[in-house]
Amino acid sequence: MNREENSSPQLVIVGSGVAGLCAALQGVELGLNPIVLSKDKLGDSNSKLAQGGLSAVTAASISHGDSVAKHVADTLSAGAGHCGVGPVQYMCSASDELVQALESYAVNFDRDEAGTYELGLEAAHSAHRILHIEGDATGAMMVHALVRAVRALEAEHKLRIVEDAVVTDLELQDGKVTGVKYLHHDGEQSLPAPAVLLATGGLGQLYAASTNPQGATADGIGLAVRAGAVIADAEFIQFHPTLVDPAQYPTAGMVSEAVRGEGAILVNETGQRFMKEIHPDAELAPRDVVARGIHGQIQAGHRVYLDARVVEESRGAGFLAKRFPSITARLAACAKDGTGLDMAHDLIPVVAAQHYFMGGIYTDTAGRTSVPGLYAAGECANTTVHGANRLASNSLLEAMVFARGAVTAMRGDSPAASCEVDPLSIQQIDTPNPAAPLGLEQLQTAASAKLGVHRTANDLEEMAQLLAKGAPVAATAREQAELRNLWITARIITAGAIARTESLGAHHRVDAPENLSGNAGAGIRYGWTLHPS
Ligand code: SIN
Repeated sequence: MNREENSSPQLVIVGSGVAGLCAALQGVELGLNPIVLSKDKLGDSNSKLAQGGLSAVTAASISHGDSVAKHVADTLSAGAGHCGVGPVQYMCSASDELVQALESYAVNFDRDEAGTYELGLEAAHSAHRILHIEGDATGAMMVHALVRAVRALEAEHKLRIVEDAVVTDLELQDGKVTGVKYLHHDGEQSLPAPAVLLATGGLGQLYAASTNPQGATADGIGLAVRAGAVIADAEFIQFHPTLVDPAQYPTAGMVSEAVRGEGAILVNETGQRFMKEIHPDAELAPRDVVARGIHGQIQAGHRVYLDARVVEESRGAGFLAKRFPSITARLAACAKDGTGLDMAHDLIPVVAAQHYFMGGIYTDTAGRTSVPGLYAAGECANTTVHGANRLASNSLLEAMVFARGAVTAMRGDSPAASCEVDPLSIQQIDTPNPAAPLGLEQLQTAASAKLGVHRTANDLEEMAQLLAKGAPVAATAREQAELRNLWITARIITAGAIARTESLGAHHRVDAPENLSGNAGAGIRYGWTLHPS
C-alpha cells in the first residue's frame, strides 16, 4: 500500500456531487488544502440528474408572498412532523445566501426578460420558489459550473482531485478518523488527513428500479458505520412518483414533479384521476402520498399514466418542450424503434421508484458525525431536515448549505469534536456470520419487494433473515466494496423498518396504517451503530 505522507491535505472530501464540489470550493476559500476523491469522473453524481431545481426563498419569491417561515412550514409538513425544527430553520434561512454564492460560481438560474428569477412550483410547496436552469437541466448545469470552478482552482494548485478513487475504509486512531484508504487503478492507497467529509450520495442501487445513477451504492453509510458512526432514520426511503415505466422504456428516466407543478395530472387506464380521492391537493400532495397512490393502483392491477396533455392545451402548443427541454428530448429518444414519447400528445406510463434516502449518517448542523474527525453532507447525511419525507427540491439546498457549513466548522473544531446523539434511541445491529453468497441482483430483488412503498412485519423479518444468511459477493474489488456497503445499509434499513411499527411519511406499514395521519411516532428517531465484532 502506498502512503501519501508528503502532501497531506487538511481535508479529504469523498464524493463530487454538489455537496463535495461546494465543500471543495469552501475549503479553498478558507485556506484549507482539500483533496477530492471521486469514485468516477469529477461531478458524476446523483446531483447531475436533478431536474426540478433548487428550493430557495429569494427576493423573487418573496415578491409573490413567499417567506422563510412558509418554506419552513412546508418542509416540516411534508416531513410528517419528523424533521428537526432547528436544522430546517437553519437550512431555509440560508437559501438566499447560497443562491448568491452559486451565482458567484457562474451558476446562472433561469430569469425572465426583466431579469427576475423564473420560479417553478412543486408538490407540497405553498409558493412558487423553485429555481431552475435551462428549464429542467438544473442539476447538470449546476454541476457543470461547479466542476469548472473546482478545476480552475486545481489548475492554480489550490486543491487536488483524484478520479476513479474508490474509498474502501476510514482510518482510525483512538476512535478518531485520521484518513482514508482507497483503491486507485488497482492499487491501494492510504491518505492521512485530520478531517474527512463524506459526500457520497445515495443508495439507489439497492433497488431494481431507481432514479439514481449506477454509482449510488451507499458508500458513505457503509464507511461511516464501520468506523463507529451512528446512522439514523434509516427506515425512510423516498419513492419518486413518476419514473417512466422502466419495463417499457428502460432509458426514459424520471419525469420531474415540476411537470405536475405546471398542471399535469395522474390517471389510470380507465381515465380515473385517482389522486383526487386520496388527498385534497391531488397530484401536488406530498411525494410519499402520491407515490403510495400510484403504487396502490398498480397493486390493484391498474396502469398509471402522467397526463401532461392538459398543460399543453392550457398553456399553448410548444410550452412543454420549452419549459422541459431535457425531459422532452429524453422521452423522444426512449423507444428503440425511434417512436419515443411526447408529453404534449402521449400519456406517459409511470411507476413509483426509489429516489432518495432521508436517513443517513447522523450529523449536527455543522456536519459533525458522532465520530471525531468525520463529517458528512448531502444525501448520505441525516441532518434531520427531511424528516419522514423530503420536500421536493430541498435536496440540493440541504447538500450545499450543510457542506459549506461543515467545512467552516471543521476549520475551527477541536480534534475531539463530534455531534451529540442524545435525542436518538440508539440500538446496535448485529454482525452476522453469513454462510451463503448474496449477489447484487438478489439483494435488489429482495429490497424492492420487502423494503418498498408498502411494508409488512413478515416481509421485513424475511429480509432480515436473508441479509443475515447471505454474504455479499461480487466480481471485482470495486463491486465488492459497493455491494458490502449496500448490504450493511440494507441491514440498517431493515432494522429501522422493523423497529418502527407504525406508518409515518414514506415508511408505510400496511400492517399498521392507523397512525398514518396521527404522526404518533414523529420525533422518535432511531439511531444504529454496528455491534463490535
Ligand atoms: C423532481 O424534479 O421531481 C425531483 C426533485 C427532487 O427530488 O427534489
